[in-house]
Amino acid sequence: MDSAQKRKKYQNITKSIAAVTAGEENIIAKMATISCLLKSEFDYYYWCGFYLVDKVKQNQLVIGPYQGTLGCLRIPFGKGVCGVAAKSEQTQVVENVHELENHIACDAASTSEIVVPLMINGELHAVLDVDSTDVASFNDVDKQALENILKLAFT
Ligand code: SME
Repeated sequence: MDSAQKRKKYQNITKSIAAVTAGEENIIAKMATISCLLKSEFDYYYWCGFYLVDKVKQNQLVIGPYQGTLGCLRIPFGKGVCGVAAKSEQTQVVENVHELENHIACDAASTSEIVVPLMINGELHAVLDVDSTDVASFNDVDKQALENILKLAFT
């Protein structure tokens, strides 16, 4: 899919997400809705979901709402792409996770990945993780659009 097509699809799905989550304050309900809408919109999304900052175990992510194959239950901060995104609070885009040493393979089919931190009032609450079975599925269009969706839906 070229960047113009991607942009158009993200524009549409952003509107749907805003409409469906309007007025909802429960963050789990919003995460479940966002995972479902994004996964059904994009053919290259193989796994799409949230890891939550665990309130009990420090510096750990724990699985939240997702769509796709079985995800790992816990990820320590700093481990894997999700853990790096959580620790750095910066979006990570990886073209091929099989070339990374610091990668957690929950499903060997996952190849490229984007992980976007969810910040609410300056505090990290979760990360949004999206995996594709193809190399280099994600670029700056995905990054900008997903960061924008999280900002719109959670602030
Ligand atoms: N591959 C991820 C772990 C999460 S799963 O892919 C669902 C990572 O390295 O953080």
